[in-house]
Order: sequence, then C-alpha cells, then structure tokens
Amino acid sequence: MKKILLITGPAGDAQGWGDLNTTQSIKKAIDDSGKTATIAFVNSMDEFYSSLEKNSFDIAWSALYHISGKSETIGMGDGAEKWLADIFDDKGIPYIGPNAETMKNLIHKTSTHKILKRKGIFVPYHYQLGTSDALPDIVYPAFVKPSYESRSVGIDDDSVVHSPEELKKRIDYIEKKFEQPALVEEYLPGDEYTVLMLGNGRHQAFLPGKVVVDPSRFGKYPILRSDLRGVGVTKIKPVSKKREELIELCSQAMEVLNCLDHVRADMRLDANGKPKIIEVNGIPGLKPIKSWSPQIFSMNYPSSDDPMEEYRKLIDQIVTSALVRYKIG
Ligand SMILES: Nc1ncnc2c1ncn2[C@@H]1O[C@H](COP(=O)(O)OP(=O)(O)O)[C@@H](O)[C@H]1O
Ligand SMILES: [Mg+2]
Repeated sequence: MKKILLITGPAGDAQGWGDLNTTQSIKKAIDDSGKTATIAFVNSMDEFYSSLEKNSFDIAWSALYHISGKSETIGMGDGAEKWLADIFDDKGIPYIGPNAETMKNLIHKTSTHKILKRKGIFVPYHYQLGTSDALPDIVYPAFVKPSYESRSVGIDDDSVVHSPEELKKRIDYIEKKFEQPALVEEYLPGDEYTVLMLGNGRHQAFLPGKVVVDPSRFGKYPILRSDLRGVGVTKIKPVSKKREELIELCSQAMEVLNCLDHVRADMRLDANGKPKIIEVNGIPGLKPIKSWSPQIFSMNYPSSDDPMEEYRKLIDQIVTSALVRYKIG
C-alpha cells in the first residue's frame, strides 16, 4: 500500500491547503482510497528533518512552502534557510507539487508576473515598490497588495488607489504591516475566475470556475477582501463565456512556470474584458466544500450520494498524478 507523508505546521492555513482539520480531511480521503497517510506537524526545521527520518513513506506532500516562525503570513523566509522542496530534492525524496524554484516564483508574485510577461502571457502592469522607492508614472486606478501573501491578506477597499498620494500611503501601510514591499498593478475591474490545473502530461486537466460573491457583500469595489475569504462566502460557478480563453491562458502559464500535479491560477478581466493572470497558487486550498479546488472538482465531476466522495476523488487524482510522474504508481 502506498504511503503518503503529509507535512504541515502552525502556518498550514496561511501558507498551504488549510489548517490541521484540513490536513486530517486529506488524510481520511487518502486512507479511504486504498492508500495510507501519516501527518507530521512540524514547528521547526529540526522537527521537519526528524519527521523525514522517523516515518517510512513513498511520497511527501507539504502544506508548507518553508518553515517560518509566523503563522498568519507567508513571506519569503530569511533567504538563507532552504524551502521544503529544496530539501526533498537534496535528499531525492519524491514529493507532490512543483519544485522549489517554481514554488518561490509563485509565492513571489512579481516574479510570476515577470516570467509570464517575458513569454507574452497576459498579466497586469506591475511594479514592486517599497517605501523608499520613487513612484512610477502609472495609469490609475491601481491595485496595491503585499508581494508574497495569500488568502487576500492585506486586501481591502483601500487596495484600490487613485492618486500618487493614495499609492504612497498604501505602500507604506503594506511595508509596515507585512514587512515586505508592495506589488502595485493595473486594477482589473472585471469578473474574477480561477482555473484549476490537475495532473500532468497526457492526463492533465484544466477546470475553470467563475468566482462569485453575493454583490451585497462588496463595499466600494468587487474585490475579494480578506474578510470575504475562508468563510464560505466565495462560490464557484460554471464558466460559459471565455471558457477556452481562460483555459488557454492557464495552460500557457502552467507550462512556462513548470507547475505540477495541483496548481491554481487566479485571473480577472481588464477594462476591455481581456483575462489577465493575477497570481498562481502552488499549494491551493483543500478545505472540503469551501476551497476553490474542491468546489471546481465537484462542479465538473459530481457524485450522486456522498459529498465527500468528490473530495476523495480529487485528493486521489492529485496523489496518483505525482506517483505516476515518479513512476511509483
Ligand atoms: N490587479 C487586481 N485588480 C483587481 N482586483 C485584484 C487584483 N489583484 C488582486 N485582486 C483582488 O484581490 C484578491 C486577492 O488577490 P490575489 O493576487 O489573488 O492574492 P491572494 O494570494 O491573496 O489570493 C483577488 O481574489 C481579487 O479579488
Ligand atoms: Mg488569489
């Protein structure tokens, strides 16, 4: 029976697929699918290394990009410490998801934009700016967000800025509150979508979903503020218009970024209705029912009686895609 080591820690929700309950749901889904999973909850690099020694397993799957003392934010680490995927590579341990280089490029949203732009893939205009940087001459409104976060951390109606004064104020806020530069980009006023990439090669699937929130929940702008995230308010709906365009955009981005197994690209339409990528998630959320990957999967492959059956199938597809990739399936 194939054994999967699930790695998580205090930052599982901020960095990865969700909190410890989510990790337990993943374990149950794996255990119920004819494989077996063990959870290693690690607080430090030492605990991480010893979990690799202590457990016998065929493949690792981590909710954490890197081990950090912070449980509410992600950041890029201190630059000296290796990321978990670096260590898996050093030790020749098979693991689910993209490699360390890709993980770093995805967390660092300006890097993602730069890599995609170089290949002609549509992204908003973008500048990474700290408090001491000169303000560029940009078209307003602009959108200002932390450079390396998720779950809409640092995002509210004041993220949309209309003047150099508002821009400066928001950059200062981000740097002070999150100890990182701001990513300043074109404000995309149109509909929001997310496209799930599942599996690799011939078995790869791209499943798009429209991200919808009851409009009465929005304030000044139709954006996913942090208080709308992780509380079951964002719903995934089928995509009719632009379906092929969204799939093509996702597929190009995933290839250029070297994404594997289970990755999700978030997109919005610009003022002309053209889809642009806002970010790519290397460890997408996996909260049963609530997270977008499970919602998209259930919408595409509904099972009749048990709602957890769809979740089991999603988890099994992710795990199997990685096992096949390593030829240990
Ligand atoms: N350029 C943008 N224009 C308009 N809204 C944006 C833009 N970038 C992000 N947003 C809004 O902020 C939310 C979070 O941004 P995103 O880059 O996806 O970061 P996160 O990693 O927090 O999900 C998005 O879901 C979207 O509603
Ligand atoms: Mg997002």
